[in-house]
Amino acid sequence: MKFISKFKIKNKLVFVLGGDGLIGKKTVELFLLHGAKVVSIDKKLQKKNKLNPNLSFEKIDVSNSANLNKKFNNIISKTGIPDIFINCSYPKTSDWNKNSFKEIKLNSYKKNVDLHLNSFVWSAKIIADKMKQNKGGSIILLSSIYGVVAQDPSIYRNTNMRESMTYSVIKGGINTLTKQMSSYYGKYKIRVNCICAGGIYNKQSKKFVNRYKSKTSLGRMANAEDVAYSSIFLASDASSYITGSLFMLDGGWTTK
Ligand SMILES: NC(=O)c1ccc[n+]([C@@H]2O[C@H](COP(=O)([O-])OP(=O)(O)OC[C@H]3O[C@@H](n4cnc5c(N)ncnc54)[C@H](O)[C@@H]3O)[C@@H](O)[C@H]2O)c1
Repeated sequence: MKFISKFKIKNKLVFVLGGDGLIGKKTVELFLLHGAKVVSIDKKLQKKNKLNPNLSFEKIDVSNSANLNKKFNNIISKTGIPDIFINCSYPKTSDWNKNSFKEIKLNSYKKNVDLHLNSFVWSAKIIADKMKQNKGGSIILLSSIYGVVAQDPSIYRNTNMRESMTYSVIKGGINTLTKQMSSYYGKYKIRVNCICAGGIYNKQSKKFVNRYKSKTSLGRMANAEDVAYSSIFLASDASSYITGSLFMLDGGWTTK
């Protein structure tokens, strides 16, 4: 196989869960651009004005975990089993930004762990079990640097942002799930990796952005395209010996 063809994802079937989000939209766009067939899955009803024969839209609300198996089976009966599953959803409660140590309530903590961590766990298991029939696949879970290192509360000083106790628990759980799944599903040629992304620039306050930038080696925040291209690499045969990795996409934040 020629060097460049190892990176090809042409005609691969990709499920992008959270396909209508900041990272999801760019992921859908770039996988399509590189010839993949994409099913964009989200709880929101997505705009169907992009007439691309390689793109379809499906609706799943992962908060209804009892229904997840049925919902994925419905999609798979129409499209076939995906070669690649990317979870970039961000399920959360309406009081999610009150999950700091000072403000958090037990009920919100429990609900968010269930919504986010448990839906990542259960949907990855459902898809991995399906991929066994395909004799392989690549699962990519969106995690965070905050599943690896602690948040630095000082970057939030005098902003409306706070550290999140729950986020560290959720992303830490996704990181260990990645290792555990890669160990079990390796014999089925299913690779499981997570992307530990740093903060994505999304018009945060200047104060926060400047503090954030100064903590990275590359002097900038990430963008959604950085994440999408890492997913393409982890989806392609170029990464065929990579599984169980916590893929650090952080501009050097965690090296300091
Ligand atoms: N944005 C960042 O700075 C950043 C950094 C590191 C990691 N991440 C991780 O990347 C992932 C995506 O982040 P984002 O910034 O693109 O989020 P986002 O909020 O822009 O998009 C998330 C998408 O998930 C969908 N979603 C929410 N609840 C859902 C549910 N119950 N069922 C199905 N879909 C649901 C939303 O409709 C939305 O389209 C998250 O897991 C997040 O933790 C984000």
